Amino acid sequence: MTISQQLNEKQKKHLWPNHLLYYQDPLPLDRGEGVVVWDVDGNRYLDFFAGILTTSVGHNNQRVNERIHAQVDKMLHSSTLYPNAAHLEYAEMLGKITPDGLDTFYFGATGTDADESAVLLAQVHTGNTEIIALRHGYSGKSQMAMTLTGQSSWRMGPVHIGYVRHAMTPYVYRALGNLDETRYVQACLDDLQDVIQTMTSGRIAGMILEPIQGVGGFITLPDAYLRGAAEIVRAHGGLVIIDEVQTGFGRTGTHWWGHQHSGIKPDIMTMAKGIANGMPLSAVATTADIAQSLVGAGLTVSTFGGNPVCCAAAIGTLEEMMNQYNPDHCAAVGEELEAGLKHLQQKYPIIGEVRGRGLMQATEIVSDPVTKEAAPHLANAVLEAGRQAGILIGKGGMFGNVLRIAPPLSATKEDVAEALQKLDIAFARVQEMA
Ligand SMILES: Cc1ncc(COP(=O)(O)O)c(C=O)c1O
Repeated sequence: MTISQQLNEKQKKHLWPNHLLYYQDPLPLDRGEGVVVWDVDGNRYLDFFAGILTTSVGHNNQRVNERIHAQVDKMLHSSTLYPNAAHLEYAEMLGKITPDGLDTFYFGATGTDADESAVLLAQVHTGNTEIIALRHGYSGKSQMAMTLTGQSSWRMGPVHIGYVRHAMTPYVYRALGNLDETRYVQACLDDLQDVIQTMTSGRIAGMILEPIQGVGGFITLPDAYLRGAAEIVRAHGGLVIIDEVQTGFGRTGTHWWGHQHSGIKPDIMTMAKGIANGMPLSAVATTADIAQSLVGAGLTVSTFGGNPVCCAAAIGTLEEMMNQYNPDHCAAVGEELEAGLKHLQQKYPIIGEVRGRGLMQATEIVSDPVTKEAAPHLANAVLEAGRQAGILIGKGGMFGNVLRIAPPLSATKEDVAEALQKLDIAFARVQEMA
């Protein structure tokens, strides 16, 4: 038995059977260096999914590790009952890159926690209850986050929180009635208006939006939709909550935050994943005014939120992002990735669409580019063939047919060139069987 086989046996025996595992033979990873990882049997892979867009400044990053080690030797934990320097230093630093005014924070341990806290804040501040989310969106695994989520596969069990309503997502590749983008965006905005007017009291607490729906398959919301939605939400008394869990920290290129391409300004913003290069940390950012409405509304505490070791990791991560792996770097390397994937699309008709921004790119896999019939079996085959060729990528989308390509932000143009060669091999193998 190989070490992989032994670990896979233990996984089956000891962990819940509904853990989603990639690959027919699951792949236990052992160690990483930059954008490269090795499995427990010593095989090398380019990591172009970065632990779900989380290893933001590369595996085994020296600066991050040094920060972690220094904090570990001082104190592992204190809880939010006591102010701690790493927590506060990071809050101050993060406030330098968040949009103007959004410099008051709550730190939690997961994206789910951040989205839950953001919704609660919007409810407390507005005095309204109802929340609008988008179909195909993803918010996490608590009851409320599953209710916000707009994909049946991630809504396990009874999902019955009655104050959440879902509006149509501007999924341009699959536009209703094949409308062109401008008309489709308008149709989706009309739907949002209609949902608020017909399915709520008309006075909402807010709307949660991912600038690029991550788990949904990197569905990139058109800028005009984000602008129109923000206007409609505010006209109905709601706050605009932007979920930057996947799109944050420069990943989409040029800007620190994915929504900034559209020019809108959120009232509340959530972030997690890449914030601390893999250490569990999340944050909710808002204005001092909005945060002030929490006074007297009830107390908050988080045992693990703002943990000093995680905050030390976040400080090191942000230093790396500010110094080298900044939004302009992501834009430049992302441009190469996008161009390379578009070139592959010319060669392989199973690639129905290439979409995304910066270092967050997807290919939607179809059996026929004209009918756009989703081909999850081919997407799976590309994932497996990629592994054989030595590259790890992700999967997503309501139909399970979208390949998500999102390396650490520290990826270089040379890494992208190597990745494209490996993906070329994988796509060629699968196109033959299509
Ligand atoms: C956009 C978005 N929001 C929230 C979450 C939930 O984050 P977590 O898994 O850390 O709870 C995720 C996780 O994938 C996500 O993609």
